[in-house]
Amino acid sequence: MLKGALIVAMTRSGVIGQQGQLPWHLPDELQWFKQQTLGRIIIMGARTFESLHYRPLKGRENWVLSHHPQPQVKQFNAWSDIMNAIPQDAEWVAIGGASIYRYALPHVSKLYVTWVEGEVPEGDVFFPEIDWSAWQCQFEQPHAQDERHDRAFTCCIYDRIQL
Ligand SMILES: NC(=O)c1ccc[n+]([C@@H]2O[C@H](COP(=O)([O-])OP(=O)(O)OC[C@H]3O[C@@H](n4cnc5c(N)ncnc54)[C@H](OP(=O)(O)O)[C@@H]3O)[C@@H](O)[C@H]2O)c1
Repeated sequence: MLKGALIVAMTRSGVIGQQGQLPWHLPDELQWFKQQTLGRIIIMGARTFESLHYRPLKGRENWVLSHHPQPQVKQFNAWSDIMNAIPQDAEWVAIGGASIYRYALPHVSKLYVTWVEGEVPEGDVFFPEIDWSAWQCQFEQPHAQDERHDRAFTCCIYDRIQL
């Protein structure tokens, strides 16, 4: 049984970032992210850690993939080192960016995907190619655009289809 998951917010065309930041302001989506990651090992790339201003996220074990030392977190030089370091029954979540998603995809059994409506023409980081026929949506929670949220979005959970 795989214990790994991946969490991402993206547009329908796969944009996840713009100039080192998230291209939207969605506080309830950040709450969803918190809810799904608390108490788990979170795995991120160095640029995503930089986007957090090098502040580890509380209540989670922060692991960072980088060729360089990183402050206040566990730093790993290679994805294989991360896979080897995960304790047997530990729950872990890959939180981005693009390279981490690419490495993590073959290893995860669950995807937490928030579909963000509208486009981001200046988006410069994208979720990798994925074969959606291998995944089944088992949960869907829509959220309207409102005065606190600059876009509508839908939080979904996908399970890998067992063949
Ligand atoms: N929408 C979302 O859900 C979401 C989630 C996360 C991030 N983001 C956005 O995505 C962007 C950041 O993502 P990104 O794809 O540009 O970068 P990233 O994946 O966060 O980090 C890339 C860095 O990871 C390290 N790395 C990657 N592969 C490595 C390997 N094989 N061995 C050692 N180190 C390796 C390198 O760091 P060094 O150069 O230090 O070696 C590389 O520069 C930001 O805009 C952020 O806001 C969005």
